[in-house]
Amino acid sequence: MLAKLEGACDVDMYRQGDLPHEELLSRLAGKQGLLSVVTDTIDRPVFEAGRDLKVVSTIAVGYNNIDVAAAREHNVVVTNTPDVLTEAAADLTWSLILSMTRRIVEGDRLTRRGAWKGFALDFMLGTDLRGKQLGIIGFGRIGKAVAAKASAFGMRVAFSSRTAASSPLGEAMPFDRLLSTSDVVTLHCPLTDETRHLINQTTLARMKRSAYLVNASRGPVVDEAALVWALENHLIAGAALDVYEREPEIHGGLLSLENVVLSPHLGSSTIETRTTMIHLAVDNIIAVLSGKPPVTPI
Ligand code: DGY
Repeated sequence: MLAKLEGACDVDMYRQGDLPHEELLSRLAGKQGLLSVVTDTIDRPVFEAGRDLKVVSTIAVGYNNIDVAAAREHNVVVTNTPDVLTEAAADLTWSLILSMTRRIVEGDRLTRRGAWKGFALDFMLGTDLRGKQLGIIGFGRIGKAVAAKASAFGMRVAFSSRTAASSPLGEAMPFDRLLSTSDVVTLHCPLTDETRHLINQTTLARMKRSAYLVNASRGPVVDEAALVWALENHLIAGAALDVYEREPEIHGGLLSLENVVLSPHLGSSTIETRTTMIHLAVDNIIAVLSGKPPVTPI
């Protein structure tokens, strides 16, 4: 990937982990392309400092970290990496659903601390998925891919979406009804002003007490303090999260609850998917810098 990029342009690569914002600003002078990740804040000052910028290519499908309006004002093309990570993200969602409802992570902790006393008929009982309703909030590529796998587990799908009105994959439902009737609620909407804290005390209280919440979208879609409150008060049965409000920080209340599965933002993290994402992001940079249309513009 680096060789491909170096074959097309001069590269200034930051190798020490997260690039501090001040350092990003100071290194933008004379740069025409910026290859970024989800933890980089690509705000208005970036476009003001990057006077020569032509393209920002993020190695992610989500782009809530990028001020797209400011990019447009500065005539900077923004690209992301949709499609290539859809199946990996849907698979991760299903692994969260299964590990939560079958108590795999809780059982792993118990086994490792030597607390397993042997087989018993009533030991660590989980919940069947068969015959239950999967409520999907946000029915874009990833939401649909999650829905497409639901029949393998015998679940029926309900979805709530701003854009999709109907689908052969499931039943369109108003948001409130989806919340109050679903056995597993999974979030696949982008982070916007409208979806920030979409899951809060009020919406959590609408869910079934036996229901589970899954979030593999963006952390701030869920009010983490409200989620801890709902879990502590047994308003829902459990939660599985891949993303957090202030990554990599996680609300202390979540860390101490057994009925919570926590994964460290792994949605697209398979070797194959990450490799494809990086290649696509590099192709986008090279296309724009050589005067061609990008493969996947936002
Ligand atoms: C995405 O693609 O938006 C992921 O969250 C980061 O890889």
